[in-house]
Amino acid sequence: MTAQAEIAAGYASESATIELGAVLVDGTVEPTAHVRIPLSMVNRHGLVAGATGTGKTKTLQLLAEQLSAHGVPVLMADVKGDLSGLSRQGAASDRTTARAQDTGDDWQPQSFPVQFLSIGAGGIGVPLRATVTSFGPILLSKVLGLNDTQESTLGLIFHWADSKGLPLLDTKDLRSVIQHLTGDEGKADLKGVGGVSSATAGVILRALVNLEAQGGDRFFGEPELDPADLMRERDGKGVISLLELAELQGNPALFSTFLMWLLAELFETLPEEGDVEKPKLVFFFDEAHLLFSNASKAFLDQIAQTVKLIRSKGIGVFFCTQLPTDIPNEVLSQLGTRVQHALRAFTPDDQKALARTVKTYPTTPHYDLEKSLTSLGIGEAVITVLSEKGAPTPVAWTRLRAPRSLMDTIGNDAIKQATGASDLHGKYSESVDRESAYEQLMRKVAPPQQQERQRAPEPQRQEEEPGLVEKVLGNSAVKSFLRSAGSALAREITRGVFGTSRKRR
Ligand SMILES: Nc1ncnc2c1ncn2[C@@H]1O[C@H](COP(=O)(O)OP(=O)(O)OP(=O)(O)O)[C@@H](O)[C@H]1O
Ligand SMILES: [Mg+2]
Repeated sequence: MTAQAEIAAGYASESATIELGAVLVDGTVEPTAHVRIPLSMVNRHGLVAGATGTGKTKTLQLLAEQLSAHGVPVLMADVKGDLSGLSRQGAASDRTTARAQDTGDDWQPQSFPVQFLSIGAGGIGVPLRATVTSFGPILLSKVLGLNDTQESTLGLIFHWADSKGLPLLDTKDLRSVIQHLTGDEGKADLKGVGGVSSATAGVILRALVNLEAQGGDRFFGEPELDPADLMRERDGKGVISLLELAELQGNPALFSTFLMWLLAELFETLPEEGDVEKPKLVFFFDEAHLLFSNASKAFLDQIAQTVKLIRSKGIGVFFCTQLPTDIPNEVLSQLGTRVQHALRAFTPDDQKALARTVKTYPTTPHYDLEKSLTSLGIGEAVITVLSEKGAPTPVAWTRLRAPRSLMDTIGNDAIKQATGASDLHGKYSESVDRESAYEQLMRKVAPPQQQERQRAPEPQRQEEEPGLVEKVLGNSAVKSFLRSAGSALAREITRGVFGTSRKRR
């Protein structure tokens, strides 16, 4: 048996797979030696990493295509606009033909159902929004760049608004609550909240005003995104939702936290699935380093926890970044699929990152990993995944298949046209400003019961004895999640694992 065949044997699978490419050893590729991910393991998450220009985006395109073809919806950020080509058939060329031959692929041009989304109004896709209440203090602190003290103060401010049943739909609402709490009338309320210094509240207020001045407020408000709109099928194919982010590069923290909010929302709304034959949805975090840089401890803990728990909801998460060392260990250790494109080793820091990356791979008799990782060609990667049984597969230097859709942008005009024609357009294009904290504080705080009745349909009630739950579940995150998921014991707004709140429609 050749070395290529020996490695490929570790990727044999009885059930449906995503075909990544063919094994290469000592510079020789073997088209029949396939490298693949069992579809049932995609919710064990993954990492696509590599230096700039090494083929990361094309790998994401390849993954998205095959997921869609298997009826799995996909959500991904289109950071540079080049993923919009998923909606068009690819062009055959000598290069694609050669790659198809190398990888044992019966390549055919193909297009996939795509919907284009944007964060907030003013983008080229259908605008998505979230309310400030639903976003919650942890994520908002990340967007505002608050330090730990300021973050906990923001938490108390949210807590006060939640306990009064004051909905914070947009930044104007939050601003008015902070102004109320730091104004003469609110001083007494502020005492009740405890530990909120008006100086810190002032800092938060300024950060908020800055965010508004940069246009960062256009994303907060209603109608809020219904996660079901991300989990659609068209003609048996999973719909690929592309978040068009080119216009958001000025505020990268906002888009990475927005994706995290979406993930938390999905976690709170989807049922437990246990082991799945194929994922319900796959989520790609491109430029994932933005999510982790300057993140608070609370934020990092919440990401690690959400990634861990979301698997049981049938959701797969793939992070994409230049260096695997951009991802904290608690998250990295949960990523079953590793697609590592070429790394550079120019500087001592590069070399350290390289050595650390090598250590995260299973040992292999076939490659000197340190050398391999720096000599991979474009569109090649060192791969290990989880087998059907959940064990790591042998390390494989892989030549990746070529995407079947267009490897280029379709252009802003075509994207705008598709957006206008989308059935989501009517649902989300206009923002609504219903009565919220701003208006209510203007009129002085009304009794919360009354507000609740005006504001939201009764959530389904489930009898639940609080004393028992508290006793059984020591974990406060789980407690608050259960509370927000099931019961309506309190009139107050409750918060889930990520400090986000359940939607109240
Ligand atoms: N699987 C592939 N099949 C065919 N061509 C590929 C493949 N992967 C990469 N290429 C070629 O390499 C080029 C660069 O790939 P890609 O845009 O995916 O790099 P990247 O790592 O995302 O870069 P950046 O960090 O700049 O975003 C592509 O335009 C394409 O020509
Ligand atoms: Mg790219």
